[in-house]
Amino acid sequence: YLGQYLLANVFTTSILHKPSPALCHKGDAMPLEMNKPFSWKKALEGADDNALAGTAMLNDLQGNILKSHGRMHSVNMFLAFDPDRREQALTFIRQIGREVTSSMHQLITTDLFKAGQTNSGPYIGFFLTSKGYDVLRKEEAKPEDDAFRQGMDGRPLGDPNRERWDPTFTRNIHALLILAADNEERQKELHKIYQNRINDTDAAVEEIGWEIGSPQLNDDGNPLEHFGYVDGRSQPLALVEDIEREKNENGGIGKWDPSIPLNQLLVRCPGGQSDLSFGSYFVFRKLEQNVKGFKEAEKELGHTLGDIDERAGASVVGRFENGTPVAKFDDEQPVKVRGNAGVLNNFNYTGDEDGLKCPFAAHIRKTNPRSDEKNSKSMLMARRGVTYGNRTDGPNDDNMDTKPTTNVGLLFMAYQSSIENQFEATQTRANKPIFNEHHTGIDPVIGVAVIENAGLTKDDQNKQIYPKIWGKELSKPTEFFGFVKMKGGEYFFAPSISFLRSI
Ligand code: HEM
Repeated sequence: YLGQYLLANVFTTSILHKPSPALCHKGDAMPLEMNKPFSWKKALEGADDNALAGTAMLNDLQGNILKSHGRMHSVNMFLAFDPDRREQALTFIRQIGREVTSSMHQLITTDLFKAGQTNSGPYIGFFLTSKGYDVLRKEEAKPEDDAFRQGMDGRPLGDPNRERWDPTFTRNIHALLILAADNEERQKELHKIYQNRINDTDAAVEEIGWEIGSPQLNDDGNPLEHFGYVDGRSQPLALVEDIEREKNENGGIGKWDPSIPLNQLLVRCPGGQSDLSFGSYFVFRKLEQNVKGFKEAEKELGHTLGDIDERAGASVVGRFENGTPVAKFDDEQPVKVRGNAGVLNNFNYTGDEDGLKCPFAAHIRKTNPRSDEKNSKSMLMARRGVTYGNRTDGPNDDNMDTKPTTNVGLLFMAYQSSIENQFEATQTRANKPIFNEHHTGIDPVIGVAVIENAGLTKDDQNKQIYPKIWGKELSKPTEFFGFVKMKGGEYFFAPSISFLRSI
């Protein structure tokens, strides 16, 4: 299975690798336009210099950054290298470099897969931490972002102390290997193959822990996070083809245009072999969800606001469970499944400037204020998270007794070009009780009560203001938070493939 994949990978890499040498050698001018979305199909046609540069970029860029790999089962293997056996570790990484999924391979095989022509095979991704670059003594190849160099621990995010994180994350992580397949058996098979390979390194490489991710789908076929809400719908899009699909098939982009420039996700890979070698900063956070606590608090909030049921939760998230935005509707609307708009994303907060429909604190309004803020798009990341943990009930079941309180949650993952301006700025805003001079309270899903605010009483500052009567009347400050617990994480960089192959 892996063999077939590798053959296909080599095939697409060699067939499609057609950059002219002048475009590819380090030090030459870079003709690729980074400040706008990018058309990979035009790049394939090879019409002009920008297109040729585009194919070179895609061949050297890891997959999953510009578009989600979409595999249902994944394992995240956290690795450490022995500094005294650096050469063996480097050999191990060079081999992985020949196996990681390139963006070009991913885009082509996904297209073929959709056309029913072939199995899209596994997705393989490889990432390094700042400490990883240090242990491998690759200082000159290390990306510059200050937050990346410092690591997640100790950044001002309101996280619990590292001693309280899960054991894997209390160790020094040097690398992350992600293996994903479309069924569980294949994912396990892949995990075994790479564990054997690690065993063969004579302890030069150690697997210090792993996390398994697998999505859960609702009846509409959309992925749900554990609190029972559709997740992963709203994404910034850097590929022209994805923007076109959003415009023509998924509800339009007139009210919310998700397009972003390439340079919001990509930065130069300092260790890459050409001017067209790019990488992306990757944030990983294990976030445990107390589902029972959240669901009980949701019911209580409904009573406090006046015997409303589903709208209480929708006010916390900003969308009803099936994804209907509460800024637009006061009740869940049916989501038509295939061949049309699906979960609505073409909306903004115009007409709701006082937060009378969607609270300012609602998770999706805090993390993407859309029309509330100029340039709000610049903070957006490519979110690639997946749920973890097994549960006996369905996320949309009503029975409170069977709802889990621990051991389930979200493996939050996101790509970006600046950790400080994107992930950290978003989490910081989630933790802030004030937004655009409104008292909003902290984000009820991910907010942590850390920042004191002079204008508000200590008691009130973290509480949220909710619509009591939708569109008409606001509630008193009401407390809702504390159901997501950070269990560990780290900042990574997804380097270019040419760097991994030549390391
Ligand atoms: C959107 C849940 C953590 C940033 C969403 C949505 C849900 C959700 C249900 C709506 C679906 C969508 O619009 O795509 C959760 C849960 C989390 C979590 C349960 C933790 C367990 C985070 C974190 C961040 C974040 C840590 C960043 C710091 C976002 C963003 C959106 C979003 C940017 C899209 C908003 C939009 O564009 O409208 N999340 N999330 N989420 N979340 Fe989270």
